[in-house]
Amino acid sequence: MRLCLVAGARPNFVKIAPIIHALRARQHDDWFLVHTGQHYDAKLSDTFFSELNMPVPDESLGVGSGTHAEQTAKVMLGLEPILARRQPDVIVVVGDVNSTLAAVLVASKLGIRIAHVEAGLRSGDRSMPEEINRLVADVLSDVLFTTSEDADENLLREGIPRERIHLVGNVMVDSLLQHLDAARRRDTLQRLNLIGSNGQPIRYAVVTLHRPSNVDAADTFHGLMTAIDHVAQQMPVIFPVHPRTAARIASWEGAKGDVRTMESLPYLDFLALNASASAIFTDSGGLQEEASVLGVPCFTLRENTERPVTISKGTNELVGTNPTSIIAAADRVLNQPLGKNTEIPLWDGRAAERIVDVLLTVR
Ligand code: UD1
Repeated sequence: MRLCLVAGARPNFVKIAPIIHALRARQHDDWFLVHTGQHYDAKLSDTFFSELNMPVPDESLGVGSGTHAEQTAKVMLGLEPILARRQPDVIVVVGDVNSTLAAVLVASKLGIRIAHVEAGLRSGDRSMPEEINRLVADVLSDVLFTTSEDADENLLREGIPRERIHLVGNVMVDSLLQHLDAARRRDTLQRLNLIGSNGQPIRYAVVTLHRPSNVDAADTFHGLMTAIDHVAQQMPVIFPVHPRTAARIASWEGAKGDVRTMESLPYLDFLALNASASAIFTDSGGLQEEASVLGVPCFTLRENTERPVTISKGTNELVGTNPTSIIAAADRVLNQPLGKNTEIPLWDGRAAERIVDVLLTVR
């Protein structure tokens, strides 16, 4: 059973790493890793490989940035000869980025079986590029690994046969639980001046924004920042800035509060930061899940989420992008203790083991 593992962008690395560790633990070494190069900055790629103990990729496509068509096409052109030469039995793709879509298209036409990790998530919003990527990846996949029951229901509703669907839990949570102790031992909070005179973390909030719908239009972005600045007048707001957001934030001059922007953080620093935060404001998908596992209130600055279990069982609240609603929600939650946070079934750090168990029996 030869496996091809594909990773392209920052969240992919966090999801592929535990699968590599589970393969190693099973002493299955017939696999190779392809890095498409969709993310290439050291801060978005190299540090993740080293901190997550990932090997140097066997193949690097170096596709870089571009329009959706350019990026997808470059991954397809780079990957096709590699798959033809190395002849994997199964290709394993994760998440919903353009690299995921491209790999699935290539493999399906070469007759290589496809396993999709994090299948079945649906926002119902086809203006999101990720929603298109998810729909195509799932319809072409032979083995669909899901994180929660709602994803199973989505797939069944779309006509995917039940025997292809495996509810295994969440590999991003595997990475989180594997590295949380190491993250907490870091001096991240000291370096960011977030430790009080009593030696304990002070109250602070974390912000991340990178969705095109939130950062590409100045009006929308500035509205969100008005709400963030309201929070920053109560506590420091730490804002690691994604490259996509960097140009936009340079033109924002409205800060009255303590908004501390910085470059994207490495995985362990970011985990340490989130673990002790009083609140997280984000448009990320993965961070909604991570906040829920960490028990930190999360405000999702979007109109929809493909991860409803983080609302029903976790700490997530969908607050939209209207500054007035965000401010109202923040004021309500920041001034009262967190009321809910139940364990999400199978988000226990062992999803990758369950995935490998299934993968090694694919016929
Ligand atoms: C991509 C994914 C998104 C995921 C996000 C995580 C798609 C459609 N989007 O969005 O689902 O949540 O990754 O970060 O696949 N850039 C750099 N350095 C890099 C990579 C990108 O500076 O290493 C800049 C470039 O200006 C580039 C822009 O970021 O044009 C966007 O990068 P891209 O990979 O197209 O999408 P993301 O916004 O990162």
